[in-house]
Amino acid sequence: MTDPVFLITGASRGIGATTARLAAEAGYRLVLVARNQNQLSDLATRLGDPDRVWPVACDVTDWAQLSGLVTRVRDAWGRLDVVFANAGASVVTSFLGTRGAPPDQWRDMVLVNVYGPALTARATLPALVESRGHLVLTGSAAGRGIRPGNLYSATKWALTGLAQNIRAECIGTGVRVTLVQPGLVDTGGIPPERAQEPKLDPADIARAVLYAVGQPATVDINEILVRPAGQA
Ligand SMILES: NC(=O)c1ccc[n+]([C@@H]2O[C@H](COP(=O)([O-])OP(=O)(O)OC[C@H]3O[C@@H](n4cnc5c(N)ncnc54)[C@H](OP(=O)(O)O)[C@@H]3O)[C@@H](O)[C@H]2O)c1
Repeated sequence: MTDPVFLITGASRGIGATTARLAAEAGYRLVLVARNQNQLSDLATRLGDPDRVWPVACDVTDWAQLSGLVTRVRDAWGRLDVVFANAGASVVTSFLGTRGAPPDQWRDMVLVNVYGPALTARATLPALVESRGHLVLTGSAAGRGIRPGNLYSATKWALTGLAQNIRAECIGTGVRVTLVQPGLVDTGGIPPERAQEPKLDPADIARAVLYAVGQPATVDINEILVRPAGQA
């Protein structure tokens, strides 16, 4: 089988799971990555043919797990064409200490949001160079603006820089790099104080991802900012 292979981190729910559905409909074979194997296996069953959908439990902040996974995919399926580095997390923070999670809970967010995509790029880019493939990273509208006391926003600023630095290193390889920056998306984790704000559907972001990867090989969509109409 020669159909292209699309690997998604953070695939078990939210934006990643919806992107998996649209990518399956577009004819890709899928590698679904998250930590919870049961959720991934349920999604894989819903997406259909087990020969085309491979659910793999992996922590994207663990280099040995991630690099081993990419080796297994290349050995079994022979190619890797699109990688969507999408796994992420958010906790409320305050540097004045007036609200949110205690600092010892900040570490995991920084690791999954910054170290995770960096390791994902390092683990997959050699295969993407072979396929002249495409790396898509999930940043955030919060990675373009200031939010008082918000460390999550700072991690997504890091994604903005990461995407640009990766693209600069990939010039001449044929690899394309896209940063998708969603505004508020209704994936179930919205804090109560933002519940009344305008929200996107995960499919709105999934369509943007498929748009970027569906362009001719000569077209590199570098950034896509998608906000719900009316977001402040
Ligand atoms: N929702 C929004 O409003 C919004 C807005 C802008 C940007 N974003 C970004 O969009 C991306 C997806 O967001 P979402 O709302 O769809 O999130 P979500 O519903 O909370 O899903 C997060 C996904 O990441 C996985 N994950 C978390 N830590 C992981 C780790 N260490 N290793 C592997 N997988 C891990 C989770 O699965 P496991 O727990 O099983 O590992 C899950 O599949 C994130 O990068 C987020 O920052 C979201």
